[in-house]
Amino acid sequence: MDGAQIDTVVLEENGLSLTLPDGTPAYFNAYWLRDNCPTSFDAETRERVFDIFHHASVPRPASARIDGDALVVDWSGEEHVSRYPLAMLALYAGGAPRPDPADLPRRLWYADHYPAITRVSHPLLLDSADERRRWMEALLVEGIAIVTDMPDSDEGLTRTAELIGTIRPSFFGAYFDVRTHIKPTNLAYTSKALEMHTDVPSEELAPGIQFLHCRANSVEGGQNLFLDGAAVAEDLRLRDPEAFRLLCETEVPYYKEHDGIDMRARQRVIELDRNGAVSGVTISQHMADIFDLPQRVLDSYYPAFVTFGRMLQEDKYLMRFTLRATECIVFDNHRIVHGRAAYSATSGERYLRGTYTDRGELRGLYRGLVGEGRFK
Ligand SMILES: [Fe+2]
Repeated sequence: MDGAQIDTVVLEENGLSLTLPDGTPAYFNAYWLRDNCPTSFDAETRERVFDIFHHASVPRPASARIDGDALVVDWSGEEHVSRYPLAMLALYAGGAPRPDPADLPRRLWYADHYPAITRVSHPLLLDSADERRRWMEALLVEGIAIVTDMPDSDEGLTRTAELIGTIRPSFFGAYFDVRTHIKPTNLAYTSKALEMHTDVPSEELAPGIQFLHCRANSVEGGQNLFLDGAAVAEDLRLRDPEAFRLLCETEVPYYKEHDGIDMRARQRVIELDRNGAVSGVTISQHMADIFDLPQRVLDSYYPAFVTFGRMLQEDKYLMRFTLRATECIVFDNHRIVHGRAAYSATSGERYLRGTYTDRGELRGLYRGLVGEGRFK
């Protein structure tokens, strides 16, 4: 291709076409160009200050040309010239989502993951951005990490959680205390076994990141059980594709009545990302409402649901260990499924204090930390 063609910009009915410096032909819509003129963005806030809803006419280039490493557009009907770096145009030419540094590939894990769990020390996290980045990466890639050397205080948990987000209350409040309660409102507050679950699916947007700070654990029993729901769901896809499809597509009801509140939400058991990979699961026997689907749909849904529920009990997936006082386990509540073996309430003390933050804020802080961004 010769230089004359590379420099040619062709005006079309709704936009213009040109050849990018790497030889790729590209087309850009005129609305998109006008809306995203670099002058549309405030230098300080980086927010768009140009308002296309108030633009007087349909944006139309009067003329356009390549000038060095930029496309220059003269707009008809207004005194405005736009100058777009060709590197910016190359980024958007293909119509693919903007590269996201927080979109790290998930690494699925199984029962033997415990020795390999990422461990980070609380004092180091406070001091070191590198250590916080390592922690965040573990949460994005594996969905789980343990913070060690936690202070034995309520404030210790708050400080840890606030490193990766804002405390995000559920309808139980901002924090919860998992120990035997005299009048329990939740199975977690008894010494009984707690079936494998994700937390609070009765909320429309269930909490994203969960923190369980172990303050005391000297009881007999009460082993912690964790598994990677994405690993189980990906295996279900291979073992029983029809069951997998039903769990991806069907919304089932969850509920919780608690202190005068009647929380209800519908969730899919398996959640897929835009590439079709499993990004999460939602499961909770104790918050599942009576399934109100047509009974004939349940003829196929229930076997699928039970197949998945049984897989959540398989030794292949279940990581069993005992969380120690001074440790705080942090995990993605939309991916990691957790439970607890029964324990003897009179054999000692068991106290976990918990809270939540959200996944979006974790990803946002991670992007900030690795120095990516549209304007950097
Ligand atoms: Fe839980």
